[in-house]
Amino acid sequence: MCPPDYYGIEYEINPWMSRSQQSDPEVARQQWESLYQVLNSLNARIELLTPVKGLPDLVFTANAGLIWKERVFLALFRHEARQGETPVDQEWFQDAGFETIEMPDDYFFEGAGDALFCGETLFAGYLIRSDVRAMQWVAEKMNCRVIPLQLVDDFYYHLDTCFCPLSETEAIYYPPAFDEYGQQALKEHVPHLIPVVEKEAQRFACNAVVIGKSVALNTGCPQLEKDLNQLGYETYSTPLDEFIKAGGSAKCLTLRLDGECAAVWP
Ligand code: ARG
Repeated sequence: MCPPDYYGIEYEINPWMSRSQQSDPEVARQQWESLYQVLNSLNARIELLTPVKGLPDLVFTANAGLIWKERVFLALFRHEARQGETPVDQEWFQDAGFETIEMPDDYFFEGAGDALFCGETLFAGYLIRSDVRAMQWVAEKMNCRVIPLQLVDDFYYHLDTCFCPLSETEAIYYPPAFDEYGQQALKEHVPHLIPVVEKEAQRFACNAVVIGKSVALNTGCPQLEKDLNQLGYETYSTPLDEFIKAGGSAKCLTLRLDGECAAVWP
């Protein structure tokens, strides 16, 4: 995670962001700390990235890259506004002992924001931020199956805003964020899909952090919490409204250093 010292709405690169709707630094700090506490109480060991002035979205560490064992595929951000984050992330990863892999030129790739494992299959959101060829390139290197999913709603511009794997066979999703083909592909590959309603998708219900049978998410998603409880998951909601102003929530504020598919690695 990266503390929100320099977080703010300094540019507009998704429909949630509006410079005229600034975040409150004090409240953002409190909300970030509460999320940190929730994850900490779930026994997550949290490493911190030092915030950098002029990189307001650095808090959204999910986009730093995709972790693969001891390696990380670094992001290549589509928008120039975020491209300065990559050298900062790269340095952090190298200091932490990860081998960093850079994307080929013009292969836009926004890390774990768009690339999520469900079981051994990589689900890859593309078009709005990441490129489909970038996803294919990454999957080829990992030698894994990739299911490309076109994102069709600008409000759900990263895959982790509309899809959240819970286990090898279960995931949360917001159907209208995908085209017919994508919805079909999800149904074919994930036996238990939990749809969220529009009102809760707008509260970033799909942007949850899953740790075993515990799920941390934004407030305002009672239906999803009920569905998760019924499936045996404990839910921990904590307000993250200040980050929704930039188009992010719980999951975006974290990056799993043990990878998105730690459970299935040999
Ligand atoms: N303002 C950031 C952007 O538009 C938010 C990133 C949210 N991250 C995520 N993994 N969905 O890039």
